[in-house]
Amino acid sequence: MSQDSAAKNASVTIRDNTTGKEATFPILTGTEGPPVIDIRRLYAETGYFTYDPGFVATGSCESAITYIDGDNGVLLHRGYPIEQLAENSDFLEVCYLLLNGELPTPAEKTEFDYRITHHTMLHEQLSYFYRGFRRDAHPMAIMCGVVGALSAFYHDSLDISDPRQRMIASHRMIAKMPTIAGWAYKYSQGQPFIYPQNNLGFAENFLRMLFATPCEDYEINPVIAKTMDRILILHADHEQNASTSTVRLAGSSGANPFACISAGIASLWGPAHGGANEAVLNMLSQIGHTKNIPEFVEKAKDKDDPFLLMGFGHRVYKNFDPRTKIMRETCHSVLKELGIKDEPLLDLAMELERIALEDEYFIERKLYPNVDFYSGIIFQALGIPTSMFTVLFAVARTVGWIAQWNEMVEDPNQKIGRPRQLYTGAAKREYIPVSKR
Ligand code: SDX
Repeated sequence: MSQDSAAKNASVTIRDNTTGKEATFPILTGTEGPPVIDIRRLYAETGYFTYDPGFVATGSCESAITYIDGDNGVLLHRGYPIEQLAENSDFLEVCYLLLNGELPTPAEKTEFDYRITHHTMLHEQLSYFYRGFRRDAHPMAIMCGVVGALSAFYHDSLDISDPRQRMIASHRMIAKMPTIAGWAYKYSQGQPFIYPQNNLGFAENFLRMLFATPCEDYEINPVIAKTMDRILILHADHEQNASTSTVRLAGSSGANPFACISAGIASLWGPAHGGANEAVLNMLSQIGHTKNIPEFVEKAKDKDDPFLLMGFGHRVYKNFDPRTKIMRETCHSVLKELGIKDEPLLDLAMELERIALEDEYFIERKLYPNVDFYSGIIFQALGIPTSMFTVLFAVARTVGWIAQWNEMVEDPNQKIGRPRQLYTGAAKREYIPVSKR
């Protein structure tokens, strides 16, 4: 392909060597990141589809919410570096930023916090919904079901063409996820549901709904609350990852926001995505001791062995995931603050990271620890059970999903998502009656 050097009309010309036909497509450039070839007319002008399993080199949309520079380990939310948000902001402020595009004024922040706080309650009928699950149901199964069922309760925020209803649905989703998650955990423990308290902050409320019981006052540990709030910030949004793309694709048909978020939760659950934080803890427990690390690193390199180093690798980051650095620092500080002197899992994780990052296989493939590598160790230190790790990820990522969903609905170029394929099945053939087979 030749790239036109003309600055204002950059384009790419495709020449079909079999027919000699040529077609030219414009190059679009954004604020940051690689330019894109606008191939919307490719099939009409050439009769060809593109082929890109996993969308490794395919931009599915235009977005102004989050930017990732994978080569340099950069993550920006509406232009603000994740390091600065994690250090200076709080989760609800990041929610406001992701939803509205700008940091709130003090008055806007107060009003937003009030709105979210006053949407944390669930319709009381929903509490009966939980009773249909077995007590040993995985909390992510409960999250998929209960969130999908919200559209059966909140009919006044389902008209996606009404910006006001979209914002109410967005606030409801962000606000109710901690309550739904807390109740999922309580249900698995056979303990009564704890209702949200409007005098508590987002992270405090979440921790109280997870761990309080009606029998005694629950004392909020400010270190744990601050750590939880920071972890929620680190997981809030991440461009067009698998679960966000799922939400966008579901939403592109006009499905209601609650159903779309439920689809996002289902996608996040996979061990290649948000389920990795739970898988990392299980992997570290399987490795058990630093002396076993070399054996497991070799397993991860063996193509005939399905074992992967969970928490390692990333489709976009070919350098350190900036969230991982913050997570690692948070890990050390929260363990110190909680007086946890030696955490064998942390020692094991750090030794595994050291060995892997010195190994040619990982260096060559630019496989670095991702956000899920340390999160499980912190969650465990906070007293969160392993089965709830991905649920926490879903609670945080809901704001990213819903911000991206709003952006998609408002996008004038928005169409229903309907990818094509390279068909390699049977050519047309005649039906054979069973008597002749
Ligand atoms: C998240 O997309 C996002 O932004 C996601 C996320 C977010 O915030 O939304 O960042 C959250 O999902 C983080 C990723 C969590 N998943 C894991 O930790 C699971 C383990 N990682 C792998 O499954 C994998 O690295 C992926 C899924 C994360 C990325 O897969 P890719 O981009 O499709 O890369 P690949 O599978 O093509 O790997 C390239 C090579 C392959 O080897 P070769 O065929 O070139 O010889 O690297 C190898 C892979 O076999 N490889 C690994 C590995 N990850 C990739 N080998 C061993 N262990 C691993 N973890």
